[in-house]
Parts: sequence; structure tokens; C-alpha cells
Amino acid sequence: MDSILVKGNGALNGVIPIAGAKNACLTLMPATLLSDEPLTLTNAPRLSDIRTMTQLLGSLGAEVASLQDGQVLAMSSHAITNHTADYDIVRKMRASILVLGPMLARAGEATVSMPGGCAIGNRPIDLHLKALEAFGAKIELAAGYVKAVQPDGGMPGGDFDFPVVSVGATENALMAAVLANGTSRLFNAAREPEIVDLCNMLVAMGAEIEGIGTSSLIIHGVKRLHGATYRVMPDRIEAGSYACAAAITGGEVRLEGARADEMMATIHALQAIGCDVSWDAKSVTVGASGPLKATNLTTAPYPGLATDMQAQLMALLCKAEGASVLKETIFENRFMHVPELTRMGADITTEGRTAVVKGVSRLTGAEVMATDLRASMSLVIAGLAAEGETTVRRLYHLDRGYERLEEKLQLVGADIERVDD
Ligand code: EPZ
Repeated sequence: MDSILVKGNGALNGVIPIAGAKNACLTLMPATLLSDEPLTLTNAPRLSDIRTMTQLLGSLGAEVASLQDGQVLAMSSHAITNHTADYDIVRKMRASILVLGPMLARAGEATVSMPGGCAIGNRPIDLHLKALEAFGAKIELAAGYVKAVQPDGGMPGGDFDFPVVSVGATENALMAAVLANGTSRLFNAAREPEIVDLCNMLVAMGAEIEGIGTSSLIIHGVKRLHGATYRVMPDRIEAGSYACAAAITGGEVRLEGARADEMMATIHALQAIGCDVSWDAKSVTVGASGPLKATNLTTAPYPGLATDMQAQLMALLCKAEGASVLKETIFENRFMHVPELTRMGADITTEGRTAVVKGVSRLTGAEVMATDLRASMSLVIAGLAAEGETTVRRLYHLDRGYERLEEKLQLVGADIERVDD
């Protein structure tokens, strides 16, 4: 099993290309099940999660060809030959649940293994199922699988008001509603840029959706969707992660391809911490020449501060002057990085979903363990500013969401390499 070896090496400076967004691509890919015509995604990220989704779609009868060094996904699903998403694939990646809505809409039925537990929280799928039931689907749970079936005559559609904002449940509901016989309305829907990307692609395939970008979505069902070619949006979380890496080393990095308007809450947090942030139509530049300032941050659904940026910003605040209070409101167990950062000399106390980070003047390298995707990136960020060597074990967590991490960081002067354990 591989690890990452990071040595603090002074300020990072230069340009990092930002890849397509993992969390957009993982919901755009299952939409291929909605049409018998080809769907091609460009600017696709090269990640293990994308390969898992490719494997899953293949198991359902879709063809997914990875072209141009993996950045183009040419997909088609003439027919859905298997209606069951198997536990062996689903257990690798929770986002597999996103085949439920499109498969139900196109094939009239879908059986998907329930995603198991997760390090960062309980993460139930009850809202996914309640939304589909509101559209007229019949839902059964048996032997660890959820089975959804359309009523005779097809799904009429319907209204659903989300009690909690859910990205995944909004995506599944959208993909189920686009082919319904009638109109569906979603209230308190998630507004993340990845949802907007999905809506824009579905419209490019012939769907009729109103209220894109708002928390009220109206979907007028259509008879069928046609094919399309669509460019995956840039990864705002990858961009925010490298921004923290630049800032913690006192450097300046231009994030090529990042879109400021999709990551404003992160930009505001960085500015509050004392970073200089500028942007144009094609990039965002982040630098930190002065001292880092303690700042209180609270995660929230978009347009609030992304929970997927919490760990990386915590690592940055470890080097700020003063004490910062971080509140995690989305997931109940998303401080797994705290004991590992503490091994590197950080001063962090937690109580429930609140962490108090007292800035320290120095971090020291150590052997640390990755526990989930974003936690592992926070350890790499801390390692870039630490004295000595840091070894981050269980690299597979990082490979799920960061494309060519060490190459990109080497571009801006980091001393980082992948090593065999
Ligand atoms: C998506 O997960 C992202 N994953 C997550 O990114 C991200 O952290 C999360 O949205 C929040 O922004 C992908 O897009 C693949 P939710 P998702 O449904 O859809 C509760 C990363 O690091 N909830 O918005 O699973 C749930 O428990 C990953 O890239 C229910 O109660 O998140 C949580 O507390 C990690 N019932 C809250 O809602 C449901 O049916 C938000 O979860 C669904 C969710």
C-alpha cells in the first residue's frame, strides 16, 4: 500500500491546473442511463472514484470508454441489461446510490445495494427514497438492497420538500423526475454548483427544468432525452485545497481553471485568515505573504462554507495567530484529522461538532494516518509547512479525490513523493 512522503520545503509558488470536479462527474455519469443516445463528458477527472463509477455503469449494461488519457468519457446505454447495482461495487463508493433515480426513470425499476457505514457520519439515504416515493415510485428494502419500481402507467411525478438539504438526494430526485409523466417540484433542494452542472447537462439532453441554482426546482417530465457532449465544471474543492497549501507555506499559487464564483465562501474564509485572493475568468490566485489570522468558521450547505473544505482550512488555521472556532454542521463525525494533526504538534480541542484550534508557531513532521478523503488532504497541507518529514499512510483515500496530487504540488516547488510502504 502506498504512502505520501512530504518534507516542508518553504513557500509554494507557481501554477496548478485544476481538474474537472469529482462530485460533479459522479452525478453526470449516471445520467447516461437516462437516454439511449451517446453522452460524452469532457474535462473528466482521473480518479479512482470515476473508475468505480465506470465499473458500476458497465455492470448495468452501459458502455463507458475512457479517452484522451482519461479526460474524456464517451458513454452510451442503448439498453439497461441489469437492474441491480451490486454490493461489491456500491460498498467501495457511496455515490453509487446515484444510479437509483436514472435507472428507475428509464427502466421502470432499479435495485441498488444500500451504501454501508462511512467514517464521517451515519449518512442515511431516507431522503432519496422519500423523494422517489413522492414521485409515485414503490420502494422496498430487503437483504441490504433498496428496490424501486414505477407504478403501472409510469411515474406521475410530485412535490417533495426536503427537511434537510441533501446534495445526493436532490441529484437522484432530479434524474428520476426528468422522464416522469408530469411535473415535479423540489423544495429546499441543494444548490451546490455540482447540482447546477447536472441541471445544465440534463437541459442539454432535452430536459425541462426551472429554478436552476435556486432551492426550488420545477421539473417538467419529457418523453425521452437525447445525447449530448458536456464539459465537467472545475473542482472547487481541489482548488480550495491547493489554496490552503499555498497559504500555509506563505507562497502564492494560481489555480488554473478554477471559478471564483463557485467557491466564494472558501475565498471569504481565506481572506478572513489574511490571504490575498484575486481572480479572473480563468483562474483564482491565492497568496499569503503576511501572518495568518485566527478566524471562526462554520460549514453549511451552499452557498455556505463547504464541509469538504473544513479539514483543509483547519490545517491552515493551525499556523494562525490566536484561537479559531470551527463548527461542522453537516456531518456528525468529521474531525478524524484532529488526532493526526495533534501528532504533528497542532493544538486542537473538540467537543461534539465544534473544534477550537489554537495556532502554533511550528508543526513537526510525523507518521500519520489518512481516515477519509479531505482529512488526508489536511495532513498533506500540514506536512508542507512542518519541519522534517511527514508520512501520510493509506494513500488510497487521497487518490479517490485528488488527481496526480504529488505531480501538481511538485509543479509549485513542493518536496513530495509517493512511496511504497
Ligand atoms: C455530497 O455527499 C458529496 N459527495 C460530499 O463530498 C459532501 O460532503 C456532501 O455532499 C455535502 O456537501 C458527492 O457529491 C459524491 P448530503 P452526499 O446528502 O450527497 C444527511 C467529498 O469529500 N442526509 O448532502 O452524501 C446526511 O447524513 C464528499 O468529496 C440524510 O439525513 O451528502 C448529512 O448529514 C464527502 N438523509 C446531510 O444530510 C439522506 O437521505 C448532507 O448529506 C441524505 C442525506
